[in-house]
Amino acid sequence: MGYTRVRRNKEQDNMENQATDASRPDRWSNKWIFILAATGSAVGLGNIWRFPYIAGENGGGAFVITYLVSVLLIGIPIMMSEVLLGREGRSSPITTMRRLIEFSKANRIWVLIGWVGVLTGFLILSYYEVIAGWALNYSVTYAGQLTGMIPVPEVDLSTGMGVAETQWNALLANPWELILFQTIFIAITVVAIGRGVKKGLEFINLWFMPSLFLLLLALLVYSILEGDMQAALTYMFKPDWSALGAGGAVAAMGQAFFTLSLGMGAIMVYGSYLPSEASIPRAVLSIATLDTLVAVVAGLIVFSIVFANGLEPAAGPGLLFISLSHAFHIMPNGLLFGMLFFSLVTVAALTSLISISEPALAWLVEEYNARRERVAITIGVVAWILGLGTIFSFNEWENMHIVGDLTFFDLLDQVTNEVLLPLGGLFIALFTGWVLPKEIAQRQLSMGNFSLQCWYLATRYLAPAGVLLVFAHSIYERLS
Ligand code: PHE
Repeated sequence: MGYTRVRRNKEQDNMENQATDASRPDRWSNKWIFILAATGSAVGLGNIWRFPYIAGENGGGAFVITYLVSVLLIGIPIMMSEVLLGREGRSSPITTMRRLIEFSKANRIWVLIGWVGVLTGFLILSYYEVIAGWALNYSVTYAGQLTGMIPVPEVDLSTGMGVAETQWNALLANPWELILFQTIFIAITVVAIGRGVKKGLEFINLWFMPSLFLLLLALLVYSILEGDMQAALTYMFKPDWSALGAGGAVAAMGQAFFTLSLGMGAIMVYGSYLPSEASIPRAVLSIATLDTLVAVVAGLIVFSIVFANGLEPAAGPGLLFISLSHAFHIMPNGLLFGMLFFSLVTVAALTSLISISEPALAWLVEEYNARRERVAITIGVVAWILGLGTIFSFNEWENMHIVGDLTFFDLLDQVTNEVLLPLGGLFIALFTGWVLPKEIAQRQLSMGNFSLQCWYLATRYLAPAGVLLVFAHSIYERLS
């Protein structure tokens, strides 16, 4: 009975929403805030932590160029699709899909886009908060060392990166410290998302995004002065195609996906708050350009410091937390810029985290007619508990392998990045390209005929083919 009541309310809502676009209270104040918030979602650990180390592992230039092409041919069209679906449905990804399916008289299977999105959001949230906690821990440690509250370790260059490695291993081995920082992060996220679109999401992005750009600029200047920018530029833009390989090309495509926050409804739900008059193609171009710019600048900062100190670009996930941290300990003003660098990572992670939680939050609020604050706390508690699995994967459960040799964290990371996000993106591209009535796409995108045809080419063929390639490769890798 309860369910029927909720259903009926939603139908009434539906009619009201269609009658007046302003009936849903949650809306960005203007299109600039949407661009800022969506850029906040896109710019995250993916740009500053993941991009440099994956580029480093795949030989630099050729990877960067493949990544840029993927952003252009796959990322931008799918992002336009997500925003247009969101703005047309004006709800959480699940309800948006239900509405559009009804309108398009399509098969109900497409509602999977919404379900997969909400589920993926929960899973990513649970480990993203832990990694964000590492960055917060590092910025606090640097701040402590800078102010003399924490002793500065003596770096003995004869032992290589010994000190940085010891610090890193000590952090991962201490679940209590990890839990503390995870809790701080999840608490800030809960408060932000609980306060709603204007008072929470807008507020955080309005304050933190300008700080992010300032930090990035300060670090760029530092790396030009103290790093080896020439070597970094050559490494990132002079392609050595022999160093890429099929695996690298596919990784570049996957990275384009993750970094633009695509495939799980985060951008869709942000699009649902977008005022009707804003131009989707222009907003998406700005967001993708800013996101790419941040990734490239972050890469230049990281590599110029790495090269100036004779370190290896292909250091893998420890590139920031070990190699770069080692460099900051031996460079002039390294403690200050180390603190600024990890604050940058922290801020970038926070503005992404709130967008990762938003699809689940919007859906629970709609489905149970619940208060935002309560739902935010529930999501926080569930993500916190799930996050313990990631934390223990680095210590207590280090040797517990769930599937093959994967720890709980490895499994979450791979299932979300290599299966769920590409799957979500594939369905989104296919739905908007083949199923959604043309007049909706035309009205929402309001582009000239040529641009519209290009977008159709991308959503119908290019993007699905690209995503299938990513998919096929990860299955092949798993089996071989
Ligand atoms: N784009 C974010 C990053 O680069 C991660 C993210 C993925 C955010 C999916 C939202 C949704 O770190």
